[in-house]
Amino acid sequence: MTEPIRVLFVCLGNICRSPLAEAVFRHQVRERGLADRFDIDSAGTSGYHRGSPPDARSTDTARRRGIELAGRSRSVVAGDLNRFDYVIAMDAENEAALRDLLRASGGSAKVHRLREWDPHPGDGNVPDPYYGGPSGFDDVQDIVERASAAFLEHVVREHGLEG
Ligand code: 4NP
Repeated sequence: MTEPIRVLFVCLGNICRSPLAEAVFRHQVRERGLADRFDIDSAGTSGYHRGSPPDARSTDTARRRGIELAGRSRSVVAGDLNRFDYVIAMDAENEAALRDLLRASGGSAKVHRLREWDPHPGDGNVPDPYYGGPSGFDDVQDIVERASAAFLEHVVREHGLEG
């Protein structure tokens, strides 16, 4: 059996943005009939919310769009930079933390920012909605859905998943 393509989404707290990115990407992968080709997870660069479920504002926004969030917050660990093929940061701060961990661990993961694939990349960051109002969560969902779909296209091409 071929090894799955392992993808880890990373934000600061692993309760708002990265659990959403994980669920959206999983949904899009399933819609493409590629669920058995992927292993998808999320984590946070901080341990602030370790063990907590996703933020209710993220969960509610996603549910209105037919996407269920799952899992509990965990911190990214050095081994993740070896285990995963793609480690996808939500913003520049997360990316910098991941690049430090990549150097320290000697891992081989491809570290990127999600909005590298966004056709409307703005400043390149998925904004942190934690301290903002509820409209921030809709904005984040729009960005994540759009950028995640484009990232999936990239992975499909890179791995020749479609003939
Ligand atoms: P996330 O959002 O990184 O998208 O999960 C945040 C969650 C918690 C905090 C910051 C951002 N915090 O400072 O506790």
